[in-house]
Amino acid sequence: MGFCLPVCKVFRRGKYLFLFLISLSVLAWIANLSGETMKEAPVSFATPQALVKGESLREKLNALTATPDRLITPAAKEQCPEESPLLRKGAVKLSFESSLKLKDVESDNKAVIEGEFEPSDCTARQSVAILIPHRGREKHLLYLLHHLHPFLQRQQLHYAIYIIQQAGDATFNRAKLLNVGYLEALKDYSWDCFIFHDVDLVPENDHNLYFCDKQPKHLVVGRNATGYKLRYKGYFGGVTAMNRDQFFQVNGFSNNYWGWGGEDDDLRVRVELQKMKIVRPPADIARYTMVFHKRDSGNQINKDRMRLLGRTPLVWRKDGLNSCSYKTMSLERLPLYVNVTVDIGKPLS
Ligand code: BGC
Repeated sequence: MGFCLPVCKVFRRGKYLFLFLISLSVLAWIANLSGETMKEAPVSFATPQALVKGESLREKLNALTATPDRLITPAAKEQCPEESPLLRKGAVKLSFESSLKLKDVESDNKAVIEGEFEPSDCTARQSVAILIPHRGREKHLLYLLHHLHPFLQRQQLHYAIYIIQQAGDATFNRAKLLNVGYLEALKDYSWDCFIFHDVDLVPENDHNLYFCDKQPKHLVVGRNATGYKLRYKGYFGGVTAMNRDQFFQVNGFSNNYWGWGGEDDDLRVRVELQKMKIVRPPADIARYTMVFHKRDSGNQINKDRMRLLGRTPLVWRKDGLNSCSYKTMSLERLPLYVNVTVDIGKPLS
């Protein structure tokens, strides 16, 4: 015993160590096996993994509620025709009834979900985000929604409307709100095309297509208030269309135009610096009705705009999308539009 004691102790400890190591290897093997199984499992169409950025809200909803049959349908849809058969010929009759209510517009547009629409019988040629900067122009917004939703549906677009509201009462900054709209809309979906749209302009002709072209497009050749004439050769205001890459390439709008005027001319300069060429639809089509209004308080003429414009070639790389700082106060998905309220700060001086 006296001799065996240390030897036996070592032997017993060795046995436990051996058992311990065996158990560890078995555990490691099991863990490895289950890891392999997870990696190999195919990702099903309707799993949450499929609900990534790049799918529209409607596709996400479909995926969540899908039966196998419904899943096959979207892929089987043909591309919508180059010219929508739903377009009306000539000028559309516009109405601006003071009795119009948001509820009426909602019930006229039941196929719109949280501001977004997709044609049910064909796949749209482009996915378009309509960005509308806004502050305190509720009636104009109502008239615009009333006309714009059916107009865009007749064009067989996949689209969503984003209203970007400036919080607070600092001087209005249309351009910065549009930068915010672009950045926020891209968090929802990889939109092909962006329409930068004033709230008081209503399109009169269905053939004024809210599609993006190979070049930036200016959609307002004329408006009722100015005898339907182009205001000046380089005018690029009111409603414009640029695709995702074009807008990114010019670094978006400047953030420094507070008050009325100049920001659209600045965007034209950016476009020209990139050797892009502004295109316009024919004058008899690119026509708008402007809903009458007085100049808003908080949007006084920007007297500094000519000075700023002279500096655009020097500063555009640093002033734009890449320097657009803001705080999102709220983001509501209302039936007819996504309502983004933002604090964009105030002018420096
Ligand atoms: C302003 C633009 C404006 C245009 C037409 C120009 O003087 O700088 O911002 O869109 O006039 O009203």
